[in-house]
Amino acid sequence: MANDKTITLITGANGGIGFELAAQLLSDASKHVLLGSRSLEKGEAAVKELQSRSLPGAVDLVHIDVADEDSIKTAAKEVEAKYGRLDALVNNAAIADAAGTSFQKLNEVFRTNVAGPYATVEAFAPLLEKSAKTPRIVNVTSGGGSIGLRLDPDNDYYSLKADQYRVSKAALNMVSACQAVEYGPKGWKVFLFCPGFTVSNLGPYNKAENGAKPTSEGAGPMVGILNGERDSEHGGYLKADGQWQW
Ligand SMILES: NC(=O)c1ccc[n+]([C@@H]2O[C@H](COP(=O)([O-])OP(=O)(O)OC[C@H]3O[C@@H](n4cnc5c(N)ncnc54)[C@H](OP(=O)(O)O)[C@@H]3O)[C@@H](O)[C@H]2O)c1
Repeated sequence: MANDKTITLITGANGGIGFELAAQLLSDASKHVLLGSRSLEKGEAAVKELQSRSLPGAVDLVHIDVADEDSIKTAAKEVEAKYGRLDALVNNAAIADAAGTSFQKLNEVFRTNVAGPYATVEAFAPLLEKSAKTPRIVNVTSGGGSIGLRLDPDNDYYSLKADQYRVSKAALNMVSACQAVEYGPKGWKVFLFCPGFTVSNLGPYNKAENGAKPTSEGAGPMVGILNGERDSEHGGYLKADGQWQW
């Protein structure tokens, strides 16, 4: 039987904001979530956990490491063979830091946070092309990637260095702008979304006691974006309420 559910791939969805987004989408019977995970073990545990909640939507695991080009291509082939198309893609997987020198950190973080989302869209575009719905791409970014905010001494995060993360998210913002220009004329919708400071495993500071919001709140606005509620903001740098300055 044809799968008329909205098929959404979320990368890095075995934990944190990606997992929470998967859970929220699954409260809708019209959704089929492909839970992306670079670790088979963590991905299987996450799918099992979601299935144990008896949510109305459907969920399957997709093994994808966005820092590995072959893994991205293999995942696209697997999704094509099993589902024949994709309706939405959330480039959520990211790292905040890496080991080594500044040069090594920048390269590693760039590979995951910039080259990964770029190559993932490239690999899955032929499957999004086959969607009978409006294809949507959400690139999960951060206000930390705003060049305007970085230069503003009144910004709350002015003293936060995190250069490799900031540089990668600024570059992801341009990746997203390029994708909006490339795919917009086909009727696809492309967005950047920043969840805001949220409880997750991103770094040791992402804890409620440091003021981070609940993971459900960080992920929540993406459900509306994926449901088309913010289509008029195609190409934008979205946050829960409005948009960031670039
Ligand atoms: N939390 C915040 O305050 C905040 C604020 C602004 C933006 N964001 C953005 O929100 C998104 C989700 O982050 P999070 O806060 O939920 O962090 P998280 O809890 O660390 O989740 C990140 C996810 O990405 C996965 N991942 C990392 N590298 C990967 C790779 N090479 N291939 C595939 N998956 C990979 C991780 O898998 P493993 O479990 O295997 O490590 C994990 O599932 C990120 O894009 C982040 O930059 C977060």
